[in-house]
Amino acid sequence: MNNIRKIDRVAHTSGDVLSVQLAKLREAFPEVFVEGRVDFDRLRTALGESASSGPGRFSFTWAGKSESIALLQTPSRSTLAPSESDKAGKTAATGNFFIEGDNLEVLKLLFKPYFGKVKMIYIDPPYNTGQDFIYPDNYADPLDTYLQLTGQADRSGNLLTSNPETSGRYHSAWLSMLYPRLFLARQLLREDGLMCVSIDDHEVHHLRMVMNEIFGEENYYATIAWQKKDTPAADAKGISTTHEYILLYQRSEEFARNLLPRTDEQLANYKNPDNDPRGPWTRTTLIRKEVRESRLFPVTNPKGRDRTPPPGTSWRVPPETFARYGAENRLWWGLDGDGDLPFLKRFLSEVQDGVVPISWWDYEFAGSNRNAKMEIRGIFDGDAPFETPKPVRMVRRLLDIATRPDDGDIVLDFFAGSCTTAQAVAELNHEDGGNRQFIMVQLPEPIDGAGKYPTIAAIGHERIKRVLADLRKRPRANAKGALDLGVRTFQLTAPNIREWDPNTSPEPDAYAQTLMQFEDPLITGWQAERVLWEVALREGYSLRTAFEKKVLSNGNSVYLVSDSETEQRMIVCLDEKILDDFSRAQELEASDILVCRDVALTDTAAANLSLQCRLKTI
Ligand SMILES: C[S@@+](CC[C@H](N)C(=O)[O-])C[C@H]1O[C@@H](n2cnc3c(N)ncnc32)[C@H](O)[C@@H]1O
Repeated sequence: MNNIRKIDRVAHTSGDVLSVQLAKLREAFPEVFVEGRVDFDRLRTALGESASSGPGRFSFTWAGKSESIALLQTPSRSTLAPSESDKAGKTAATGNFFIEGDNLEVLKLLFKPYFGKVKMIYIDPPYNTGQDFIYPDNYADPLDTYLQLTGQADRSGNLLTSNPETSGRYHSAWLSMLYPRLFLARQLLREDGLMCVSIDDHEVHHLRMVMNEIFGEENYYATIAWQKKDTPAADAKGISTTHEYILLYQRSEEFARNLLPRTDEQLANYKNPDNDPRGPWTRTTLIRKEVRESRLFPVTNPKGRDRTPPPGTSWRVPPETFARYGAENRLWWGLDGDGDLPFLKRFLSEVQDGVVPISWWDYEFAGSNRNAKMEIRGIFDGDAPFETPKPVRMVRRLLDIATRPDDGDIVLDFFAGSCTTAQAVAELNHEDGGNRQFIMVQLPEPIDGAGKYPTIAAIGHERIKRVLADLRKRPRANAKGALDLGVRTFQLTAPNIREWDPNTSPEPDAYAQTLMQFEDPLITGWQAERVLWEVALREGYSLRTAFEKKVLSNGNSVYLVSDSETEQRMIVCLDEKILDDFSRAQELEASDILVCRDVALTDTAAANLSLQCRLKTI
């Protein structure tokens, strides 16, 4: 057995959030760490006046909060496997992904490869209306729960439950579900990233508090009121609610919003009645409703008549500015040049590139629920297989505010439903020649009495495929750059590399047997592609990773792992034995990671290879 050697093993679980947080704390306060642990007394001293304690301080808590924090700190032992339905090669080059799985597990898996990489996250989680289902996070074994839930494990049983208002922990259950997901989502955002969360009256107040806690109050950005209905509900008991909210939080002050493109209606205000060579313009007043003695001078119009401000007002600008405006042909006195008052011509070519976004989004600006239903019917040949989609235009407005066309911005939606967000990203790219990428995560939530689509994930995936196929046929308005109209699908699943169980019985026979079993932790029937993905994700490679198989001159086969997101070179060999002359057949550099099976190495080969590169074993 080769277990005595001091060679790193490929991690058997996803990245560890807690250790990343601790590293940040250690960087800021190295003095509070004693033998690797935080000494609270020292931390309190280090924080001085800023430390707050005692019963009088403000706090927000609920039943189950500490368990939900523990849950987010537990690394995931699950993995992602490329879906069988993807045709190999066809989709490999894309930066768009659809992941079927529970989003908490998936966020943990994305934690390492996507830490600080996502530009915008939009989510539309269950609103906790009493009818919607809340995922039953299982603290003891999240993967097992998921596998049972999705029929991938032996014990079946419908674990999908709604969260009725009568339950004593109605709000707590919802908050406990959301807290770890929001916490991880924040870690994935770029410093200049934006998080957008749809919500309605049921939980908006709690969501704001929980987001304040996770993002910091200073990063609260805005609350958009979105008009979801264009007509009141005639049967409403009290006041018919026609709007809901989108809470926006920036990751940090580095976030800078874009201006919104001008609408056709706004552009229609710019005209050119005098054929000014500077192009269309709109007029603005030169009158101020306040009397300032120095601004009451007469101004002469083109017909030679002197004009003064009406009573109770004065000019906005002093005489020299008026003179300059006149010399530059910026004053408008009407078509006949004999108006009573002059206006300033504001040229479209000179005003800033768009309009400042506002917090009230009516249905004409951002679409309504009715529009969203029509959109989904349009895609599914008249059917509406999903009940609660958002309108594409609404997500589009968020993308307008937070993303750029040419930065390869990653947009994540981990309550993807019918994947409206993917459609908004793809359509916007098609329109402006952009290279934004999307990652959608959706649970295979079964649909009651399912017809064509057994799960919501199936609907979301199908929608993406149909939208992309349609865009491929449509002529492009902006043909700059290559357009990525591909999508690759992954599924959350159990690993092919078995996890070492630290709880193995200390009883000698059982222990020895487990050791034998773990000499090679690959499960019976393991598949190379799945093991490769598992290793890649654990090592922080993104979903864009490609694997190229190469047969070496010494007889071994290796996979060269490449990812446009990282410079790190990784080589994986899954052969049962590392043959002689491996290092001559495969050129290795000190910074390369070479991954191979522990059982495949003799002590000599291990010693040799670990001198030439960073050797890791499975
Ligand atoms: C309100 S819908 C989102 C609708 C989406 N915005 C659209 O336009 O189609 C919320 C979705 O989150 C999904 N969901 C709930 N819990 C989840 C979990 N733990 N992991 C992944 N998806 C989940 C539900 O299945 C549901 O489809």
